[in-house]
Amino acid sequence: MKKFYITTAIDYANGSPHLGHAYEKVLADVVARFQRLQGLDVHFLTGLDEHGMKVQQSAEKKGVPPQQFVDEIAVEFQDLLKRLNISNDDYIRTTEERHKVVVQNLLQKLYEQGDIYKDFYQGFYSIRAEQFVLEKEKVDDKWPDIYGEVVEITEPNYFFRLGKYQDWLIGHIKANEDYIYPKSRTNQVLEFLKEPINDLCLSRPRERLSWGIPLPFDDEYVTYVWFDAVTNYLSAVAPGTDKYDTYWPADRHVIGKDILVPPHSVYWPIMLKAAGYEPPGGFLVHGFWTTSGSKISKSEGETIDPLDLIEEFGADAFRYYVTREMNVGLDSDFTLEKFMARYNSDLANDLGNLLSRLLNMTHRYCEGVVPAVSVREEPETLLQESWKSVKGEVVGLFEGFRFHTALERIFQFISSVNRYAETRAPWKLAKSDSVEDRQRLETALACMAESLRLAAAVLTPVMPEVSENINSLLGNPVVNSWEGNLDWSERLKGNTLGKAAILFPKTRR
Ligand code: ME8
Ligand code: MG
Repeated sequence: MKKFYITTAIDYANGSPHLGHAYEKVLADVVARFQRLQGLDVHFLTGLDEHGMKVQQSAEKKGVPPQQFVDEIAVEFQDLLKRLNISNDDYIRTTEERHKVVVQNLLQKLYEQGDIYKDFYQGFYSIRAEQFVLEKEKVDDKWPDIYGEVVEITEPNYFFRLGKYQDWLIGHIKANEDYIYPKSRTNQVLEFLKEPINDLCLSRPRERLSWGIPLPFDDEYVTYVWFDAVTNYLSAVAPGTDKYDTYWPADRHVIGKDILVPPHSVYWPIMLKAAGYEPPGGFLVHGFWTTSGSKISKSEGETIDPLDLIEEFGADAFRYYVTREMNVGLDSDFTLEKFMARYNSDLANDLGNLLSRLLNMTHRYCEGVVPAVSVREEPETLLQESWKSVKGEVVGLFEGFRFHTALERIFQFISSVNRYAETRAPWKLAKSDSVEDRQRLETALACMAESLRLAAAVLTPVMPEVSENINSLLGNPVVNSWEGNLDWSERLKGNTLGKAAILFPKTRR
């Protein structure tokens, strides 16, 4: 069985989860669920980045020990995963012993082979960004606001020989066509690699930062948080175990555009290469929600947290909205108006009403049992052709991370099912005495049922619960695989349908 190891970024434990965190989990979950449906042995990892200056400072501010601080934050982040119905197989926290061991082994190995050396560091350091910054980044002689307070420091530190592996990295990137999605980001990385890269300062003196993993070869220092953080992808599968043998290397690291260069595209592959591990298969780099962190406005100046919509409208409605609106790689603006428009028109109206109409009519005209297809006229041909074209595209669209287009196409199909229902108008056919009209009526209900089965199947990665509900109302099993389940069939014939259900209730908004 082919394996697929997928990860998300591990979120900073210095504050509560926001829309950006939620989106990335949904995105990775859609990929993970899709790959499972394709028959792959998926391992899906997510987790929490718990060390570093920001966490230390946030804990101090709150007046609690850092471990207690991150334990509380971890509950919030793990709760978000449940709220969103995320199907991760593992959750790693960087304060766990299993992680520390791997980080320290990695450091020790690189030290012993001479890839880590001690030297002086002199430079400007941004506390907020937890990185050294360059004077050329100043704008009008001032540090950009994103850096917060910047201080000048000179201190002995340990350095990792990144430069030694620069040529290898450039070759590796150029040799792997699909290494970074979207492709345009590859240029950003290669651009960065045009200049000789500096070795990475990977230690922090303990007196400045105590909240980190100690260097195994010098107790006066802890590990730089980025070196610690990226190693989660390795520590979670525990080198030397079956899990590692089965899943390494990661096939896709799902990350936001702000953390590709340099931590993921430069430090991480070089760390692995230097230590003799196979580098990752690729990155999926998403853009930003522009309202993340802040609230979105309701009427009359009131605001709400976009994450509150998960409870109000259901996880699947939220998952649908973010997947439908975001063209992966670009940015998108989250607004309540757009959310409501998608909810009301795509979900409640096009999909939800279609299902209720089918259930109602099948109970009214056919005792709740899906009839046989007995006529094949133009409306049936058009409907099946519409399905065929979606089916032909949908796997490729999911495979290529074009989820917004996949959903667009799936909902075009749902629209054609609605058109089919209007054309056939079973409620009119029911008034006729002719045998042909009775056959048309039965055929219409059977075709609508089959169409909904197929729509539910292709919507499974994005709306797993809705898909399960639809299948249950159709008397069909849960979709665990796409193999054989995306073909137009008559498998529902004779099934007794559930009683009318409202998938997406109208709300007060
Ligand atoms: O960067 N829209 O953690 P983080 C979309 N701990 N995605 C967003 C976003 C937004 N508005 N804001 C943030 C870190 N993200 C590190 C990662 S990985 C080894 C260590 C994304 O909590 C961001 O791009 O700041 C990142 O991928 C993830 O959320 C976590 O961000
Ligand atoms: Mg961030």
